[in-house]
Amino acid sequence: MCRAFSDREIEASTIDALLEQARRAPSAGNTAALDFLVLASREDVAIYWDTTLPAARRATFPWPRLLDAPLLIIPWVDPEAYVKRYARTDKAHTGLGSGESEWTVPYWFVDGGAAVMTLLHGAVDAELGALFFGLFGDEDAVRTKFGVPARLRALGCVAIGHPLPERKSSSVSTPRPTLDQIVHRGRW
Ligand SMILES: Cc1cc2nc3c(=O)[nH]c(=O)nc-3n(C[C@H](O)[C@H](O)[C@H](O)COP(=O)(O)O)c2cc1C
Repeated sequence: MCRAFSDREIEASTIDALLEQARRAPSAGNTAALDFLVLASREDVAIYWDTTLPAARRATFPWPRLLDAPLLIIPWVDPEAYVKRYARTDKAHTGLGSGESEWTVPYWFVDGGAAVMTLLHGAVDAELGALFFGLFGDEDAVRTKFGVPARLRALGCVAIGHPLPERKSSSVSTPRPTLDQIVHRGRW
């Protein structure tokens, strides 16, 4: 993940290629109920930050050059579409068509995660940097500002741009576990 960007724009064809790859991410039952709010103009990106990080809070924000990323992609998933899909004949036996509460694993978030990972991979392949970050309490404000339908859920935001050298997040000071620590071959 990258948290400092130059303000250099990203070619429209690169943005389209990233989205085209993410569109092809897998989804449960091929429900394919994922939409992308794409903010790729200076004006739209500024509106996003004005909505989620008002000027008064910016002085203490630890990643000021995150705000220079020229591209923000906010993926939205549609839980109702999954319920409808699994109510169809070929999936009715699962019982998942009865309602969201039947889903022990909410696949809309699983599928959204796959699409986010595809965006991140695509960005790195295009020699760009990217950060997935949470919307936390700002989901409704972003929904209202950009006219997103009420039934959709935001996963978070993917900022993409040309990377700059940066101070690392405190989260990365802990090394990833080794395979020996997390792989349980045959039994736990
Ligand atoms: C679901 C998820 C949510 C995250 N939320 C944030 C966030 O809100 N802010 C942030 O700076 N980084 C966020 N990250 C990035 C993680 O901190 C980062 O992936 C982790 O520390 C490992 O670092 P690396 O991806 O650079 O190897 C998030 C990552 C994931 C997968």
